[in-house]
Amino acid sequence: MTEPQRKRLKCPEQKPRVVVGRGNPNARLMLIGEAPGAEEDARGLPFVGRSGQLLSELMKEAGLDEQRQLYICNVIKCRPPNNRKPTSKEIEISRPWLKQQIDLIDPALVLLSGATALQAVLGIRSGISKLRGQWQNHEGRDFMPVFHPSYLLRFRSREAGTPQDLTLQDLREARHRLHLLSES
Ligand code: URA
Repeated sequence: MTEPQRKRLKCPEQKPRVVVGRGNPNARLMLIGEAPGAEEDARGLPFVGRSGQLLSELMKEAGLDEQRQLYICNVIKCRPPNNRKPTSKEIEISRPWLKQQIDLIDPALVLLSGATALQAVLGIRSGISKLRGQWQNHEGRDFMPVFHPSYLLRFRSREAGTPQDLTLQDLREARHRLHLLSES
């Protein structure tokens, strides 16, 4: 990334890495998170820290093969200073880059993990608890809001009705939809 591009993306001065994506670029399922954390910045890959470990566990438990069936990225490509939440302005600035990434990967299904992804892609500013698990068709593509793994880390239980249990249900639904697509 050139310096002007870094500036346009509002990547902070101390040159954090640009974290683009990981997984299968030909996957029909994409997951969009918020922004890289410290571990992601250090390794240059999204979702490789504690949140990522939980995400991988849940994917596996839902029967999804992460390496083969998924492409993972974030709304914001550089770690925000002190891991703070991205501002609305940063989300706006990042949106064209994310849109291009979605167009290039061209997934049939997209999981919007957390409020930042929901805001950036569908322009919805709140309501993830109500919207999670429901497919939203937008510009010919199906998007499903799901809880962000860093929120799930606060609730370790997987008992019925807990956030982790609900997320497992959502991921199983995504797997089911993926299966239907592969048959059609
Ligand atoms: N949280 C995110 O939203 N993305 C990452 O890559 C890591 C943690």
